[in-house]
Amino acid sequence: MDMSPFPHHGPLDPAQAGPQQDLIDDLVRRVTERRVTALLGPRRHGKTTALRAVVDRLSDSVTSVWLDLYELASWADLAGRFDRALAPIGAVGSPTVTELAARVGLPLGMLSIELRKPAHQRPDPILVVQSQLDILVKASAANPIVLVIDEFSGIVGVEGAAAQLRTSLQHHFQEIGLLFAGSEPSTMRMLFTDRAEPFYAQADLVEARPFDAVAVEQIVRTGFESTGRSAGSIAPAVAYVTGGHPHRVMELADAVWSRVPPGGTATDDDVTLALDQVLRAESAGLERLFSSFPTGEQLVLRVVAKNEAIFGGYADSLGLSSGGAQHARSLLIDRGYLRREGRSVAIVDPVLAEWIRRTFG
Ligand SMILES: Nc1ncnc2c1ncn2[C@@H]1O[C@H](COP(=O)(O)OP(=O)(O)O)[C@@H](O)[C@H]1O
Ligand SMILES: [Mg+2]
Repeated sequence: MDMSPFPHHGPLDPAQAGPQQDLIDDLVRRVTERRVTALLGPRRHGKTTALRAVVDRLSDSVTSVWLDLYELASWADLAGRFDRALAPIGAVGSPTVTELAARVGLPLGMLSIELRKPAHQRPDPILVVQSQLDILVKASAANPIVLVIDEFSGIVGVEGAAAQLRTSLQHHFQEIGLLFAGSEPSTMRMLFTDRAEPFYAQADLVEARPFDAVAVEQIVRTGFESTGRSAGSIAPAVAYVTGGHPHRVMELADAVWSRVPPGGTATDDDVTLALDQVLRAESAGLERLFSSFPTGEQLVLRVVAKNEAIFGGYADSLGLSSGGAQHARSLLIDRGYLRREGRSVAIVDPVLAEWIRRTFG
């Protein structure tokens, strides 16, 4: 059995990130020039993959610290995640990060145990985070560091955390490069463009976009070729069906590929059947996701999936009021399920859109 040339479960290894090379080059340049940068884009658009590739490319010259703030819940949560982020660089710096942590009574890598103790015995997590940032700053004096923060929009879950980060790091952007990414488009934008926010105007915003038709063609062709198969002329169909959505391109290409034996050539029929297969595989998850939307948002998604106007007759027939539609639409845009396309909107995930069409006719 060959390994599929189209991995699509979670972020890819740097060696597999080829198709985003321009984006990765750009980010590497920015980090090298110590320009604070935030990578924005919907879920599954290759952001984490790109960050990993950047870290990998810079590994000879800088030390990276990887902090993931997905659904961050509290200061203690932040302290625990920071601890896990610092643990792998314990030996870095002089004095080392481990020594710096020990000096302030933080057992590096073990903090989550401390933070679970009864209230009167556990350290104040805000002070812990301040110490951790201080350690990072001290370690960076001897050794350039890049702080990579994935799912940075999670920071809004903890009041004052973004301000603390800014306060501790702002005079050290030369020693500590900062690279952010996040999937909640409106929160990410707000964090860097709203005057009231600590990181207002502090970062250049870069977007992770869908793959264009040329990139899809290249991904599909080389994936098939590298495993002794031919993609025939399916690339345009894959690009069309997926709209270049990075994860869906890979998932669909994989489903096509698995239908083609070594030495064989893919056909457009394979794409049709592969799409059925993807929908079957994803239906339980899509159903759960769809049910999680409030009714107004479900209706807007149904209308948009059919390419109908959300203020038109079809919307009306579903009982969608124009006020309700407007509200639901902006919430869906904010959370990255819809994106604006000229004057109308489109569903970001093409497989969700197809599932809705097949489910609701
Ligand atoms: N450089 C890339 N080349 C090909 N496919 C990619 C690339 N980056 C991401 N993908 C596809 O997108 C999926 C999600 O990538 P990930 O980096 O986790 O996205 P995000 O962090 O934006 O949610 C991957 O499993 C893969 O299928
Ligand atoms: Mg990610």
